[in-house]
Amino acid sequence: MNTTFLDACNLKETPYRPIWLMRQAGRYLESYQQTKKKARDFVGLCTTPALAAEVTLQPVDQLGVDAAILFSDILVVVEALGLHYEVHPGSGPIIHASTSPAWKSLQHLDVTDRLHYVFETIHLVHRELAGRVPLLGFSAMPFTLATYIIEGGTSRDFRKTKQLMYQQRNEFYTLLQLITEVVIEYAKKQIESGVEALQLFDTWASVLSRQDYYHYVQPHSQRVCRELRSLGRPLIHYINGVQHLFDNVVSLGTQVISLDWRCDLAWARDRVAGSRALQGNLDPHALYLPDHLLEHRVREMLEVYSNAPGYIVNLGHGVFPQADPSKVKLLVDLVHELSRH
Ligand code: CP3
Repeated sequence: MNTTFLDACNLKETPYRPIWLMRQAGRYLESYQQTKKKARDFVGLCTTPALAAEVTLQPVDQLGVDAAILFSDILVVVEALGLHYEVHPGSGPIIHASTSPAWKSLQHLDVTDRLHYVFETIHLVHRELAGRVPLLGFSAMPFTLATYIIEGGTSRDFRKTKQLMYQQRNEFYTLLQLITEVVIEYAKKQIESGVEALQLFDTWASVLSRQDYYHYVQPHSQRVCRELRSLGRPLIHYINGVQHLFDNVVSLGTQVISLDWRCDLAWARDRVAGSRALQGNLDPHALYLPDHLLEHRVREMLEVYSNAPGYIVNLGHGVFPQADPSKVKLLVDLVHELSRH
């Protein structure tokens, strides 16, 4: 097996820098569009193991990335909370509940039963990967999941979330606690099904000040990390806009911290001082750069770590749907070629 990704998570030397990309399976790939046509819609793609497995493997085959990431969505877990979701191309995800507001009616349903297709996809991907690269599972963290449930979808200002957090502190706490329990169960079950590492997405936590993150969110995230750490698989933590929360994230104790593009890589490297691996953090839109400037950016990122262990190359957020697949492939090849020693 190509273990460069896991070795980098564990702060071990690797012959070259591993790279994988958030949203590496997605609309920018023609093959993804083709597979998606076989499903009813995006949710149908996530809930049909054979198709989800097919899509998971496409970037491994076509780009040569060093890890596969399970094809699914952070929102599938709402099905284990008694809600439903849809994703409409262009307008983003929508959460449906039978009562309003949705957060009042959450239930803790049987995760294995409600999300069986995720675990089946993991088994299928494992078989088809046949040890080529490790498989990464993922879950949202409680706060980011709560924002989707409270707002009913994506939000610009997270007003409803903050209103609940500030005005109904106990209800907010109870809500996050329930979500935390389901997230832990879901993530554990992914690990039991065979994922070799797990990325925890708290994409929107950066809309909070450091103090509010500390008081309202960190205890729940801490609990997720504590419970999952005992299973012995590398954990990666991601916030889009992490810099002001960086020390809080370090204290969660995940082996890897994934950085968005606004966070300075050298600053974060000095801050963790070899105690954690870092992942990231090219601006996804840098895929618009001409080849020679993309190469320059890759050289700059690689030089930050020189030959020191504990660095995984990735974007600072997901590949965007309009990205040119040949640029994405060029990025992967550049990282492999320029970092080999
Ligand atoms: O990274 C991968 O390749 C694995 C699959 C994956 C998807 N979503 C597939 C997807 C992962 C890890 C996610 C995580 C996810 N989903 C996050 C956290 C990471 C991040 O992006 O910040 C969030 C916030 C979501 C919620 C969500 N789902 C959004 C914002 C969207 C995009 C809506 C849009 O129309 O642009 C989705 C849908 C989604 N998830 C798509 C994919 C490939 C596009 C669906 C399509 O085919 O139309």
